[in-house]
Formats: sequence, C-alpha cells, structure tokens
Amino acid sequence: MCGIVGYLGHRQAVPVLLQGLERLEYRGYDSAGIAVIDSSGLKITKSAGRLTELKARLNGHLDGATLGIGHTRWATHGRPTDTNAHPHPDCSGRFAVVHNGIIENYQELRQWLKAEGHTFLSETDTEVLAHLVEHYYRGDLLQAVMAMLPHVKGSYAVAVIGKDHPREIVGVRYDSPLIVGLGREETFLASDIPALLPYTKNTYILDNGEVAYLSPEGPRILDGTGHLKQKQVFHVSWDLEAAEKGGYPHFMLKEIHEQPRALRDTLAGRLDPASGRVKLDGVRLTPEEAKAIRKVALIACGTASYAGMVAKYVWEKLLRLPVEFDVASELRYRQPLMDEGTLGLVISQSGETADTLAGLREARRLGARILAVTNVVGSSVAREADDVLYTWAGPEIAVASTKAYLTQVAAVYLLALYLGTARGEAPWAAELARELSVTPSKVEEVLALEDRFRELAARIAPHEHAFFLGRGLDYAVALEGALKLKEISYLHAEACPAGELKHGPLALIEDGTPVVALVTQEELVEKMLSNIREVKARGAWVLALALEGNRAVAAEADCVLYLPRLHNLLTPLVSVVPLQLLAYYTAAARGCSVDKPRNLAKSVTVE
Ligand code: M6R
Repeated sequence: MCGIVGYLGHRQAVPVLLQGLERLEYRGYDSAGIAVIDSSGLKITKSAGRLTELKARLNGHLDGATLGIGHTRWATHGRPTDTNAHPHPDCSGRFAVVHNGIIENYQELRQWLKAEGHTFLSETDTEVLAHLVEHYYRGDLLQAVMAMLPHVKGSYAVAVIGKDHPREIVGVRYDSPLIVGLGREETFLASDIPALLPYTKNTYILDNGEVAYLSPEGPRILDGTGHLKQKQVFHVSWDLEAAEKGGYPHFMLKEIHEQPRALRDTLAGRLDPASGRVKLDGVRLTPEEAKAIRKVALIACGTASYAGMVAKYVWEKLLRLPVEFDVASELRYRQPLMDEGTLGLVISQSGETADTLAGLREARRLGARILAVTNVVGSSVAREADDVLYTWAGPEIAVASTKAYLTQVAAVYLLALYLGTARGEAPWAAELARELSVTPSKVEEVLALEDRFRELAARIAPHEHAFFLGRGLDYAVALEGALKLKEISYLHAEACPAGELKHGPLALIEDGTPVVALVTQEELVEKMLSNIREVKARGAWVLALALEGNRAVAAEADCVLYLPRLHNLLTPLVSVVPLQLLAYYTAAARGCSVDKPRNLAKSVTVE
C-alpha cells in the first residue's frame, strides 16, 4: 500500500515527482519523500505526515535535479515517522529505494545483512532492498537490482537510483502495480496512471517479474533474466480532467455525480433492451460451461463485497444458483468448499486488493473458474481471471467507493442476463434489460434532490450512532450505506436486517437516534413498517427511503424520501445514491477529511 513515482528527462524533477505523488495520495498518505540526483550527488528529503509537510521541508531545495524518485506511504512495517518514510538509503548513501508492497522475508534478510556489516536506520521491510543493492553492486546499477531479485520474497513495485548513475532509474514489479510513462525524451514511473496524465497517455503496464530500465535512450523492459521484452504501448483513453475534481469540492462528490455517466458507459454496447441479450466481450463462458455451474462463490472485500451481496439476492432469485457470500479475508482461511462446478465471482474496483487476490488464487487452486468484475484494465485481478467484465467507472480517487459500487452492481445484472440466457432459463431477461437500460436517468432524478440530503445530513451529523435497516436487497444496500457513513464521517453506523432488531440491536435505540429505513421491496413493505414502528416507539428519528407512491410509509416515518419507481430487483442502483449523499454531507458537516479518511487507503494491497 503506497504510491511510487519516478522521473528522468529534461524537466525539473521535483515538481513532477510532487505532482505525481499528489495524484497517488489515495494509496496512502501518512508520510512522503523524494530522492533526486543533482550535480552535488544523491539527496533524500522525507517527512512524516501529508505531502504538504514534505513540500514545506523541500521549500525550493533540489530544484536543479532532472532525475528522481518519490513515495507516498501507508505504513505497514514501522510507524509513520520521518525515518520510516521512503526513500531508504543504503549504508553508504549511494543508493535510494522506494517500494510499494511487502517484503515477506525481510527479517531473515535483515539479519543476514546485519551479519555482513550493514547498519539499519528504519523499522521498515523496505530498507533491506537498499542494502541488498549495495551488497550486489559491482559498478552496474541494473545488474545489482537483477542480482537482488531472486533473494526477495513478497510483493513489490520498486524504483532504485544510484549516485554514480545520474541518468538511470531501475524499476521492478511483482504483485504491486508499476507503470512506465512514455514521453518525448523523458520517461516516468508510477504506481497508477493519474500520476502520468499531465505528461503522457502512452504507457507500458509492467507484468510480474518485469524490470524497467530507464535511461536517456528511452525505457527498456527486461524479464527477470535480463532478456529484452517487446511491450505493447497501452494508450490511456481517459484524460486529466477525469482524474481531477472538475469544480467539485471533493472527489467523492464529483464521483457521486458521475454515476449516471458511469452507469451508461458500463451498459453501453453490451445490453440489448429489446431482446434482453447481452454481449460481454471478456466473458467467454459457453452455454455448456454456464449450465455446468453448480454454485457461485463471491470473492471481494468492503464495498465490492456488498455489490456481491446484490448478486446473492438477484442471482439466487433469477438463476436459482446458490451464491455463497463471504468477505475474501475470511474465505481464504476457512478451507472453502469449491471445485470445477464453482464459479468464483471476484469483484474489485482496483483489482489489486490483497485479500481478494489471495481468495482468487485459492478458488483457482480448488478448481473454480474465475469471473472478475474490475475497474482497472491490466490489474492483477483482470490478468489472473478466466473471464473479465470491466466496469467503466473511470478512475475513482476518493477512498470511499461510489461510482465503482454502482457500476459493480450494474455488472451483477449484466452477468445475470448473460448467465440466464446461456443457461436457457431467462424468461425475465427482456423486462430486466429494458428496465436496466433506463436506470441512468433514474439516478439523475435522485441526484436532483441533492439539497434535501444536505439538510437531512445536518440532522444526523450531531449524533455518534446511526442505524440502517432493510430486508432482502434493501439490507444489502443498508450495509453499503452504513459503511459509507462510518468510513468518512467517523460516526458509528450499523446496518441491521430489520427482522433482527428485536434480537439485540434494538437495545441501542434511544431518543433521537437516527435510523435510515430502506423500504423499496414491495413484498416486504408491511414488515418494514412494523420495524419502523418498533424503533419509533423507542424514540428513534426515522428517515425512510421508499418508492414513489408508497403513502403508508409517510404515516410511520419522520421523513420520507421518494425514489423513482423501477423494477423491484434493480432498486440498489437507485437507493444507494441517497445514502452516498447523506454520508458525504454528514462528513462535510462534521468537518472530516472526506476524500482521505483517517487510517484508510484506497487500495488495500496488504493483508
Ligand atoms: O479495490 P477493491 O474494490 O478491491 O477494494 C475493496 C475495498 O477495500 C473497498 O471497497 C473499500 O471498502 C471502500 N473504501 C469502501 O468505500
């Protein structure tokens, strides 16, 4: 978990590195640092805290350098201190290393290197890499890095520079992303594309085990044995504007508003509303293979897992296929029952979440076919899956997932149509497809109510607890609503299947406790009304989300927000939007750091 950047060219390196790090801060932001080589040698500046601390420390120093590397950190090994911040030097101060990932055998390597006379300054796993380069260095930086690699276990994206190699950077990748940006007489390295966008849209996406050697002659990509590889240029189709705030105060709000577009893009060209048929390019299950599926196992974390819970309700109902719901961090250790008849449904915005990837590998080991839904082209999940359905949400920068969730849920419906048709059991397909095709405009209708959510958030913001109730699909969305609120507003929020209230959670309801009740499932309205009465009788303040025309709920709740009517199985695509806006405005009212909540990072690439 961290972001790394590198630059070699004709520009001043420091502003390029800092701008790149700013765009990667979503990957971690508890400390940052850069290393550059200028006429007087290799210089490292680093600081605990946000990038602003590093900028203050730099204050115009190092401005002459045209080569450097940088890092923004999310601590795993060692606290977020100045010393533990990257880049890390070797004993002699000739080399500097930045790293994203975890070196699993670092203790062993550290002991061995200490016995060899190396002195360690930090508590990090990364520092062993700097000493290893020093150990293997015989005058050739690339060779030293190559010699080190067989001794390193774990995940890494690494960039290395050396004082005696003022025009070289060596980057390596294994299980953590690393991208080379191709400019005119300049080359970039970065953990993710937004860091490169101000300069280039042409990239090489490194595969596991590949080494990027950057020099004034241009980048060379080598395999682990040093052989030159021919890489295809990946041209980024979205632009800088898409990776910036576009006039909104926060990325999260911008991303919430991008949802109609994201949904349209995800459905476009894939859905035929007239026939109910779908065309999903990267999904290649034949009708025989689709019919052979006996169960589906979800493999996902956090918000992505709640999108998967929608699959549980929808697929079980429409496809009559059992869908096992579990978070990946649990699944991987519980000796799951899977075989060739299992479809592993992997959902991940980033495609790099460590637990999700481990779950994917375990499912594959057991014989499952892997079908992935991801937002990042070329991500590890995409590359390791048998079938891939990309969500076209575009880059999601805010830590709190919004448009990625919505497009993941849309993917769940597209896949229901695909599997249902392939299995020859989809009399419902045309109706579902027709209604699915109009959901983007329904999301627009909800967004038009934005001011209402700001007012309602003011009602929730002073409290320390909130509850989200729902049944069936509404419960799946309640889980996502509660996660949104807790992660960005630091308010304790709990989702509860409404029928479970009286088995415990009801004890927590007191005068004024905010309760958000989702009442979109036609056959469960009566049951939900009883649950609203139960919490009201204990003093709760109830905000209900119901479909237009549901007058009964108005008599029970303190406030009702009406959502446009739509197919009862598609309601999550619309009902989640008010919950995102409520979370956003509550966090803003509480003065929280909306886009970068404390203790969290966008992409959880460690277990
Ligand atoms: O990149 P992924 O979809 O695999 O990430 C999974 C979770 O870490 C992520 O959904 C997380 O729960 C979100 N920050 C919640 O908003």
